Amino acid sequence: MSDSVQTPRKILITSALPYANGPIHLGHLVEYIQTDIWSRFQKMRGHTCTYVCADDAHGTPIMLRAQAEGITPEALIAKSSEDHQADFAGFNVQFDHYHSTNSEENRTLAEHIYLRLKDKGYISRKTISQYYDPEKEMFLPDRFVKGTCPKCKTEDQYGDNCEACGATYSPTDLINPKSAVSGATPIEKDTDHLFFELNQFEDMLKSWTREGHLQTQIANKLDEWLESGLRGWDISRDAPYFGFEIPGETGKYFYVWLDAPIGYMSSFKALCDKSDLNFDEYWQEDSTTELYHFIGKDIINFHALFWPAMLSGSNYRTPTAIFAHGFLTVDGQKMSKSRGTFIMAKTYLEHLNPEYLRYYYAAKLTSRIDDIDLNLEDFAQRVNSDLVGKVVNIASRSAGFVMKKFDGKLNDQWSPEMAALYQSFTDKSEEIAALYEGRDYGHAMREIMALADKANEYIAEAAPWVLAKTEGKEAELHECVSVSLNLFRVLMSYLTPVLPITAEKSNAFLNLDNCHWDDIQTPLMGHSINKFKALLTRLEMAPIEKMVEASASSLGKGSTAPDGKKGDKKAAKQSKQVKAESSTSDAPEFDALAEEISIDDFAKIDLRIAKIVNAEAVPEAKKLLKLTLDIGFEQRQVFAGIKSAYEPEELIGKLTVMVANLAPRKMRFGMSEGMVLAAGPGGSDLYILSPDEGSKPGMRVK
Ligand code: 2FM
Ligand code: ZN
Repeated sequence: MSDSVQTPRKILITSALPYANGPIHLGHLVEYIQTDIWSRFQKMRGHTCTYVCADDAHGTPIMLRAQAEGITPEALIAKSSEDHQADFAGFNVQFDHYHSTNSEENRTLAEHIYLRLKDKGYISRKTISQYYDPEKEMFLPDRFVKGTCPKCKTEDQYGDNCEACGATYSPTDLINPKSAVSGATPIEKDTDHLFFELNQFEDMLKSWTREGHLQTQIANKLDEWLESGLRGWDISRDAPYFGFEIPGETGKYFYVWLDAPIGYMSSFKALCDKSDLNFDEYWQEDSTTELYHFIGKDIINFHALFWPAMLSGSNYRTPTAIFAHGFLTVDGQKMSKSRGTFIMAKTYLEHLNPEYLRYYYAAKLTSRIDDIDLNLEDFAQRVNSDLVGKVVNIASRSAGFVMKKFDGKLNDQWSPEMAALYQSFTDKSEEIAALYEGRDYGHAMREIMALADKANEYIAEAAPWVLAKTEGKEAELHECVSVSLNLFRVLMSYLTPVLPITAEKSNAFLNLDNCHWDDIQTPLMGHSINKFKALLTRLEMAPIEKMVEASASSLGKGSTAPDGKKGDKKAAKQSKQVKAESSTSDAPEFDALAEEISIDDFAKIDLRIAKIVNAEAVPEAKKLLKLTLDIGFEQRQVFAGIKSAYEPEELIGKLTVMVANLAPRKMRFGMSEGMVLAAGPGGSDLYILSPDEGSKPGMRVK
């Protein structure tokens, strides 16, 4: 008997809320698929499991993005919500409710939690000095100030850390600082900010992080942070800001990360308002329900430090557990635009069946925070060998005989050997359930495929195709194909959380309703089935290649650039998260238009077509590649800050555009004799310009 019958549980689960200014890509989907599998599994077990999510709609990048597009933030986030939900639905990620952090439920809850924290003395006020953009009339978060690194003197570095030498500093340490929004020189200005006194929660967090709510790797990491002492967390931002104004303050808004996790509660609240679910039962301090947050390892401090402290400080329950996962690489490398491996959910769906990816991710996922790799050849091979070759094959080999010879009806009596074979499959039920429960999906898939191998071995040995041609073997044949289809049913039942659509088709074929985890305990005897239709077709390399091509070309043509999130650059920054995020970090999306210039000014810039004849990484510099450029009449050496966006080899042989009359600059690693042109906010989200066919090195760009 499974635990599902004995102890029904009430479970609330969430995935991290995606930002409302970028499309969903395959990196994001690791988490949504992981969570959806868990949610579907819990529901099959008979538990009340509720899966909620929402768009994370506030913050400076969203405000600036809307301005750049000439629309209101509300219009931007409405479109994004629609796109995100279409992508999730395309992958059969089934939320019980999808909301927005820019909602009345969220405003009410954010104000309420803040006021409780304030009443209890957990909010303090401090005057800080921050860079201010006098042209744009706004305070600048660290990531919106750029300048020369005070340590290694590399230009064009963000205000919080240097990508070339790794130094961390505050924006006021930058040499020659500029606003990334307007290009103006920022001025230092005093402003009052509100802080959540995290230090008052040090004891609480020291025990909470060691009480089994976190994976060991995470708890160890947090220990380091807790040992070095917690500082107040800056939770306010000055106008202009897209968010909720703080009650009792003028022109001060909640920092996006204050109201984002509250979005979990408000999405659930909106669902309670239209269903029988009871909000307080799930969120009151002594709740006996379970609460789990699935997140990427880059946002642990928000979920395992700030969030439990906020909840406990405002008399709500804390999470039962935080489940963090690693990042996605494609073909062993970080997702890359130029290689076509930065694949949007939408692009994938235009070419491939979502069930393939759900299975592949499941086969790769563990309960740990290691990164997972989508190897495109292995992907096709694994899907074909496991799902098509092993599982679906069982049904397709047996169905025809049942239809043709036995009028679509399974037999109703099994020999003891067959009953034992069937039982050996159902005996695995609790072991597989425990693997799902522990998010060890990869192990679960291996167990299921081992059973599929066993079923295929049985069929090969029993050889129904021989029985069908042998006189007097009808009963044996009937038993063989009936048992085979029953084994197939068990396998599909185990795979249902991963392959909901294939399971639905299989249920239609087997003439079954949606199945509960324990239904397989009763085999199908004397049961009528329907005509078999292909459940899954082979995955060929051709559509995969087309998807990769489409990803490379759609990005090249300037469609919405991905936000670069959840890439491995974020992992590298993880250790700096507490510092960076508890100050003021938001990444800019678009730079504002620069000052107008005359045609004569423009004519002074000598732009040339350049062929990249060599490219190599500068090992000592995190950001720089050393390029050798051929401009027809001579070769130039240029250091370009594009290391995070390109592998050197992929650039060699390409044509691009360079500023050929820029005064040479002496850099730490040598002379830079010009500049190549690239677009994008930076990091991995950077695209060098590629001239059209027919252009030749040295041609002047006019
Ligand atoms: O990192 C992100 O993409 C955030 N938008 C996640 C927010 S999760 C939660 F706290 F709301
Ligand atoms: Zn530096």
